Amino acid sequence: MTNMTTNIGGLKMKNPLITASGTCGYGREMSELFDLSLLGGIAVKGTTLEPRLGNPPPRIAETPSGMLNSVGLQNPGIEAVLTKELPFLSQFDTAVILNIAGHSIEEYGLIAERLDSAANLAAVEINISCPNVKAGGMSFGVDPKVAAQVVSLVKSKTKLPVIAKLTPNVTDITEIAKACEAAGADILALINTVLSMIIDIETRRPLLANGFGGLSGPAIKPLAVRMVWQTAQAVSIPIIGMGGISTAEDAVEFLLAGASAFQIGSINFHNPCAAPQIISGLDRWCDDHGVKNIAELIGAAH
Ligand code: SIN
Repeated sequence: MTNMTTNIGGLKMKNPLITASGTCGYGREMSELFDLSLLGGIAVKGTTLEPRLGNPPPRIAETPSGMLNSVGLQNPGIEAVLTKELPFLSQFDTAVILNIAGHSIEEYGLIAERLDSAANLAAVEINISCPNVKAGGMSFGVDPKVAAQVVSLVKSKTKLPVIAKLTPNVTDITEIAKACEAAGADILALINTVLSMIIDIETRRPLLANGFGGLSGPAIKPLAVRMVWQTAQAVSIPIIGMGGISTAEDAVEFLLAGASAFQIGSINFHNPCAAPQIISGLDRWCDDHGVKNIAELIGAAH
């Protein structure tokens, strides 16, 4: 048995696997398939101040080696999440991470100031990849100054470890990563989905009602590994890597690139039991390769 315990930026987990936000709701459906206590952590659906219905359908489409989504942050709002969803998750021995999103910098602060009342939250993950309506649709995560403002506001409103989840839709992700680190982020998570498009050649219209969507799945894995590698060279805070991880071997690649933990996303739709399979596969891989502690792999590629 390999020691898989992970302790990064104030976030303690029994293993480095976290199910990614937006791919496991608030855990209810997944809990019918396996014991969520097996997970290192669960990052629950992006939550906003008020309930949101999300974008009109179609809002999900399959692509070769991946999927496109433009769900538009459908969620019941922070009040319902605090009173109905998080209490359900308290029966499991896993790190519960709340992903939060906002339409303005202030909205992130208003959500964050309510989080310390939740007994079972292990960390807050800030989704800074959403459209910032007050800045003409620009994403918070593409401007280092704005990203830093969001991080520093959230940091000032909660005692929880703060994870900044970064968008890959930028020229240089390390600039954003460094700004978030300087603003007090405890951990970085990367990458969110890659802005993409599918056109239906019969109707000659975009397939998704929203036009664009975020690409995830195996298609983006090499891009994500490259960004984790580059970011690990640029910052000192720990990184949670993600982007197309479908197997234990994929996870090892992210750890070697410099991630201290990892999230699995699209694979949960294809195989809802992937998480426990990847955890046991990782343990097997480590045994086969003489790895006694998962920490030996972090940043070990050269
Ligand atoms: C969504 O609900 O639109 C997905 C959010 C995200 O990818 O950050």
